[in-house]
Amino acid sequence: MTLSSSSTARLLAPDAAGIAEAARLIRAGGLVAFATETVYGLGADATSPQAVAKIYAAKGRPAFNPLIAHVPDSAAARREGRFSEAAERLAQAFWPGPLTLVLPVAETASVCELARAGLPTVALRAPAHKVAQAMLAAVGRPVAGPSANRSGRVSPVTPMHVMEDLGDRIDAILDAGPTTVGVESTIVACLDGPPVLLRPGGVSRAAIEAVIGPLASSTSGKVEAPGMLASHYAPRARLRLEALELQTGEVGLDFGGRFHGAKAAQVMDLSPSGDLVEAAARLYLCLRALDATGAAAIAVAPIPEHNIGEAIRDRLSRAAAPRI
Ligand code: TXA
Ligand code: MG
Repeated sequence: MTLSSSSTARLLAPDAAGIAEAARLIRAGGLVAFATETVYGLGADATSPQAVAKIYAAKGRPAFNPLIAHVPDSAAARREGRFSEAAERLAQAFWPGPLTLVLPVAETASVCELARAGLPTVALRAPAHKVAQAMLAAVGRPVAGPSANRSGRVSPVTPMHVMEDLGDRIDAILDAGPTTVGVESTIVACLDGPPVLLRPGGVSRAAIEAVIGPLASSTSGKVEAPGMLASHYAPRARLRLEALELQTGEVGLDFGGRFHGAKAAQVMDLSPSGDLVEAAARLYLCLRALDATGAAAIAVAPIPEHNIGEAIRDRLSRAAAPRI
């Protein structure tokens, strides 16, 4: 078995053989990027500190930032985290799917302390992607999986994005094509007190509140996602938000055809028809493509705040924040 990081990652097909090989590599302590319905994750055996350490190294991620443990289903999640009543209801309503629950660590937990960055809590997610589910079932252990980008960069939604960022640092990519949701999972902490929205994402606030009532926001409480630094998800170019027209030297990230006067080559529209779900699916793809033009700045048209628009606006405002 080779786990060399100097060569290029192998592309594994999303068939039985590819899934079995991905699972074998992860069980052997390797790093395998895999598709979920949100973004590509960088998978490693969450029960092995050695394997988890490789994730932090490959991404250049600070070790105080904990990882999401991916599981095939609620039964596996129950061995790892203690479910409050609200957590039960959320898992029932949204798993498998783009929702991550932060819960107190269960006594039967197998996720290692390094994956949790030493916290007494664990982030758990059962993704809806069929290939991910098959891989997780084959691994038979929780799989730690941050987004498969270098720390601070835009999350990958295609295998090529993973290749660009991490191709020389990981063993394989389980290639299941572009992801569908396009932004990361919604993270809700169900600890003491009312559930807290730590990160808006693929499941809208409204959908969650319809199941468990009003969410507290992370700014009002003590619980935080350590990875939610202001400057994050950032392309190289500067971002100018709420733009109504392009200025000289800018390329445009449009929504609903605002930048009519501009040259087509300088603009990508997240959704010409103004569809937020389509816009989320295209967000990181468009950001990467516009960044690749080499333009110094990207003008971003206004995005509505409702539904998955909250997650899109959250990622854009982090991408626009001053760089650390
Ligand atoms: O859609 C997603 O969630 C993707 C796919 C691959 O599952 N994963 C992802 O992982 O976005 P990552 O590592 O890029 O973002 C996870 C966030 C980080 O901000 C981290 O700080 C937070 O989850 N987090 C993880 N464990 C936590 C915990 N115990 N308490 C609070 N926040 C936690
Ligand atoms: Mg990330």
